[in-house]
Amino acid sequence: MAGSIQNNHVFSSSSSPSSKKRMTPDDFNRDDDIITKKLPAATFEDPVSALANARHEFGEHGGVNMSIEASATFTVMEPETLSRMFTGELGPDRDFFIYSRHFNPTVLTLGRQMAALEGTEAAYCTSSGMSAISSVLLQLVSSGEHIVASPTLYGGTHAFLTHFLPRSSNIKTTFVDIRDLKKVKEAIVEGYTKVLFFESMSNPTLTVANIPELSRIAHEKGVTVVVDNTFAPMVVSPARLGADVVVHSISKYISGGGDIIAGAVCGAASLVNSMMDLHQGTLMLLGPTMNAKVAFELSQRIPHLGLRMKEHSHRTLIYARRMKKMGLKAIYPGLEDHPDHHLAKSIFNKEYGYGGMLCLDMQTEVRANKLMNGLQNNTRFGLMAVSLGYHETLMSCSGNSTSSELDENEQALAGISPGLVRMSIGYTGTLEQRWGQFEKVSHLI
Ligand SMILES: Cc1ncc(COP(=O)(O)O)c(C=O)c1O
Repeated sequence: MAGSIQNNHVFSSSSSPSSKKRMTPDDFNRDDDIITKKLPAATFEDPVSALANARHEFGEHGGVNMSIEASATFTVMEPETLSRMFTGELGPDRDFFIYSRHFNPTVLTLGRQMAALEGTEAAYCTSSGMSAISSVLLQLVSSGEHIVASPTLYGGTHAFLTHFLPRSSNIKTTFVDIRDLKKVKEAIVEGYTKVLFFESMSNPTLTVANIPELSRIAHEKGVTVVVDNTFAPMVVSPARLGADVVVHSISKYISGGGDIIAGAVCGAASLVNSMMDLHQGTLMLLGPTMNAKVAFELSQRIPHLGLRMKEHSHRTLIYARRMKKMGLKAIYPGLEDHPDHHLAKSIFNKEYGYGGMLCLDMQTEVRANKLMNGLQNNTRFGLMAVSLGYHETLMSCSGNSTSSELDENEQALAGISPGLVRMSIGYTGTLEQRWGQFEKVSHLI
């Protein structure tokens, strides 16, 4: 860092001799800056160990937490520096920043955590999950080109592919059941198809994607694999299984507080840099920027994501087993009779279970509503609300809420029953206390 403009800066405390008394990133961190260098594969024993190996930023005054760089713009010492930054000669890897829609140090630090979490070379954080998805697809696919996608996707993503992209950009999508690898292979047209897109664990049906096989098929035809891992951070690491890009709605498990909307694109440094290109980059030009204060808050939550995921998974498996015993149609990849149980077991990371999402197929919307009403208004088991990854249990009937963008045929194709209740199992209260609340409404079902 010696000689970088930040260290020579008149306002920078890190250039004062007293800063030597304090722990600095250079004292503490190994030489593994993810933005510029690939992490050796050996450091990715599991997401938590990879996070522990990621660069730790300290605060300006030696604080254990990084300082928030709450500046929209950045000064330089020499006028030539500005033009050297605009030509790309000087960049954030050497601590040169232009403007926070481009790169911001605090947002970049959260990006390093996300890259460590997903085992990718780089990552960049955005203002929402949808902006991460739309930006990466618009970067990778041009007008007249093609996407192959799973028909079972979050409703907003499905609508983006079905309605928005063909109208705005002449980009067409073919939806194929990704469980049928032969059909996926047939749907990919070499030279025309640019992206294969699917969710690691599908919203809402909880189908587990065969990431290694799907990646192999796509790569044989030169297609980039983009995986939405919103439902299963820590639980599965798509990039380690062959995917090229991992996108997240950070608004869910990674935030965990139900209070922030955010997203991330995790992939190669060349991808992040292309998305930041001054002339062609979707992040730079469409501007779905994350605020540095939000990035700081989120960076404080990632260290306990592993603990939270373990508890979400632990409770969900127990509840799914008990619900099944009660005769309910419970859908959960941790159940041995789930069609993808063995696949999940073989590709999921050890120790994080099968995730915190479970579905109950109540067959009809009337029965689904009756159940949710009882669980919220009679026994307080959970809350009727969309979204997931919150510390309280959240419940919604997918067909009339987060999958309502899909018409009746599309919902049938996606395997969404009209009575499907999607539950994001929380961890407040004791496990038995909450189970008692669930059991009390069983007579209503
Ligand atoms: C699987 C999945 N991906 C993406 C999104 C969109 O994320 P956001 O609401 O942060 O834009 C959602 C939202 O529900 C989702 O469930």
